[in-house]
Amino acid sequence: VKKTLTVAIAGLGTVGSGVIKILESKMESIERKTNTRLVITAVSARDKTRKRSVDLSSFKWVDDAETLAADPAINVIVELIGGADGAALRLCENALKNGKHVVTANKALIAKHGVYLSQLAEENNVTLAFEAAVAGGAPVIKMLREGLSANNFARIYGIMNGTCNYILTTMQATGRDFKDVLDEAQKLGYAEADPSFDIDGIDTAHKLAILASLAYGCPVNMDALFIEGITRITTTDIHYAAELGFKIKLLGICEMTANGLLQRVHPCMIPVTNAIACVDGVYNAVVLEGDSVGRLMLEGRGAGESPTASAVVADLIDIACNRFTYPFSVPANALQPAKNASIDSHNGAYYIRLTVIDRPGVLSDITQALSTEHISVESFLQKGAKSDGNVQIIITTHDTSEKSMSTAVKQINSFPWAVEPATLIRIFK
Ligand code: HSE
Repeated sequence: VKKTLTVAIAGLGTVGSGVIKILESKMESIERKTNTRLVITAVSARDKTRKRSVDLSSFKWVDDAETLAADPAINVIVELIGGADGAALRLCENALKNGKHVVTANKALIAKHGVYLSQLAEENNVTLAFEAAVAGGAPVIKMLREGLSANNFARIYGIMNGTCNYILTTMQATGRDFKDVLDEAQKLGYAEADPSFDIDGIDTAHKLAILASLAYGCPVNMDALFIEGITRITTTDIHYAAELGFKIKLLGICEMTANGLLQRVHPCMIPVTNAIACVDGVYNAVVLEGDSVGRLMLEGRGAGESPTASAVVADLIDIACNRFTYPFSVPANALQPAKNASIDSHNGAYYIRLTVIDRPGVLSDITQALSTEHISVESFLQKGAKSDGNVQIIITTHDTSEKSMSTAVKQINSFPWAVEPATLIRIFK
C-alpha cells in the first residue's frame, strides 16, 4: 500500500505554478521513487481571481495562508509567499511547531530566521528544506551539506542571481541599457517582487550568507557581509572589460582569510579564461574549493519557473523518502559565530575608470596618488578626447589592499580635473 504525503502550497507565483505542473506531470515517476503519493490538498495565494497557467479547481482554496499551519490534514507546507518576516515567517514557524515539514524557496526568510526555524524543526522532528533558496535549480545546498561534507573550504564563490547575470550578459551582447534589460528580466519571471533586491546585491547576499553558514558552521550573519550591486555598471565598463580580457559578473564570495571569514558581494572583473566568466544569461554557478576534493563547479539555471520548482519538488521527494538531516549541517545550537573580516582587509587587484579634463599634469597627479598608497599600475589606457574635451583613463593595478585603494581613489576624486567620481571594480583571480 502506497503512503500518502499531503502538501499545501502557499504562494502561487512563478514557482508555485511550476511546482504544481511538475507534481502533476511526473506523478508516476515520483511515486516509483518514493513509494508515496504526493497529493496537493490545499493552495493559497493573495488573489484567487488572477489568471494562472495551472488549473486550481481540484484543490481546496484557502484565503489566509497562515491557517494552513493548523490544518491536521496537511503533512508538508511549501512556502512560496516570500519576504523575510510577516505571513511567510508566521506560517513556517507555526507549521514546524505543529509537526509539519516546511519546504521553502525563500532566501530572505532563511537568511534572517533560518537558524531559529531550523531549531524549531529539530525540536519537532520535522525538516526545514530550502534547496530552491540558493542557485535555483542547481542543488548546491545538497552538494555542500552532503556530497562535500568531508571538506573544509578555503573559498566558495559564485554567480547567484539570475536577474543580474541576465542583465550583464545582455548588456554586453547587445549594448542595450540597464533599465531596458531589467524590464525584460522581470517579464521572464527571473526578478524578485522588488527587483532592487536583485540589482543591489541583496538577493546574492542572502544566498551567500546561507552557503557560508553551511560551509563554515556559523549562524547566518547578514551584518557580516559587504554588499555592492550592479546599478553603477555601464556598457562603457563592459566594453573596456572586454578590451582588457575580462567579463563583468556579480559574484558572491566567502573565504577564510588571515583576518577571519570575509563575505562579500560585488561586481567583479573576471578573466575570460576563468570558467565562471563563461556562465551567462540566467545561469548561476557556484565554485567550491574544498581541501579534500579540490575545485568543483556546479552550473545551472538560477531562476525561473521550472528550475526553481525542480529544487522544491526534490525537497518534497526527500521528505517522502524520509531523507533528512540538520538543515544547516550541524544542530542549530552547535553553530558557532565566526570571526569576521572586513572588506578593508581585502587584498586584490583593481580596475579604475576615470573621466578627466584633458590637460597637463593629470597623469602625474594620478600616479602620485597611487604611489603614495604603494599601488603599482599593471596596465594603462587613455581613450582620446571626446567632443566635450574629456578623456577616459582606464587603469588596472597589481594587488593592493582595499584600504589603500579607497584612500587613493578619494584623493583622485578630489582633484579639480576629475569630471565624475572614479568607477572602481575589483578584479577577481
Ligand atoms: N530573483 C532571483 C534571481 C530568483 O534572479 O536569481 C532566484 O532566487
